[in-house]
Amino acid sequence: IRPLTLQDFAKMREEGEKIACLTAYDASFAKLEDTAGVELVLVGDSLGMVIHGQPSTVAVTIDDIVYHTRATAHGLQRGFLVADMPFLSFSTTDEAIFNARRLMQEGFAKMVKLEGGAVQAEIVRFLTDRGVPVCGHLGLRPQLIHKLGGFKVQGRDEAVAAEMIEDARVLEEAGADMLLLECVPNTLAKTITEAAGVPVIGIGAGAHVDGQILVLHDILGVSRGRRPRFVRDFLAEAGDVEGAIREYVKAVKSGAYPDVEHTFGG
Ligand code: KIV
Ligand code: NA
Repeated sequence: IRPLTLQDFAKMREEGEKIACLTAYDASFAKLEDTAGVELVLVGDSLGMVIHGQPSTVAVTIDDIVYHTRATAHGLQRGFLVADMPFLSFSTTDEAIFNARRLMQEGFAKMVKLEGGAVQAEIVRFLTDRGVPVCGHLGLRPQLIHKLGGFKVQGRDEAVAAEMIEDARVLEEAGADMLLLECVPNTLAKTITEAAGVPVIGIGAGAHVDGQILVLHDILGVSRGRRPRFVRDFLAEAGDVEGAIREYVKAVKSGAYPDVEHTFGG
């Protein structure tokens, strides 16, 4: 089995093949995802909520992510492993490179993901110049929860939309290898994806992106609290865990997911 690379994702984008991504936090689920055809596996700071039971991702530490990334790595043969940079773990270039090194050397991640737009350009440049692939995360940024007051769609406002388009451009110019859009209207996600030169992955960003990602616990229907609009419970449909992950991959690949009911309009 050949491990997937960033070049494979670039090719998939070019050929219009949707990229199937999912979060994982341990080796057992990582292995199931790997055999079910998940191509990119993210150890998200969502682990603060779905694993640790926190109300947000703010309390997640770099040690938490390293621990779960290392466990997840042991379940993968083909899937491309990405790890989140948690809240305030990349505030300076020194801190960002120190923590990215831990994610790659101790956790075996192949790329790091960090929230933020143009303001992160210097950090993204610093990391990518030194061999750390970076995925930028725009739209809803859960690490800003205490500024935003809640999780909601981002970019319905024209000024915010224009800023997001510019953020995407600046991040890519700074060397970002991939972009992720969270809770963004359909049409804005389409505009950003068409303008981009790198793969754009969406969660609650409609169907016009290059790939989809969801939180594992959401597709298995075991997350606590209110279910966001974009979530589809594949376990309820498939009946067992491996089947649910397979159905999710199939639905992403065929374009059956996301449907309009999972999508935010402008
Ligand atoms: O932390 C996470 O799981 C994420 C995804 C929702 C994209 O960032
Ligand atoms: Na995250």
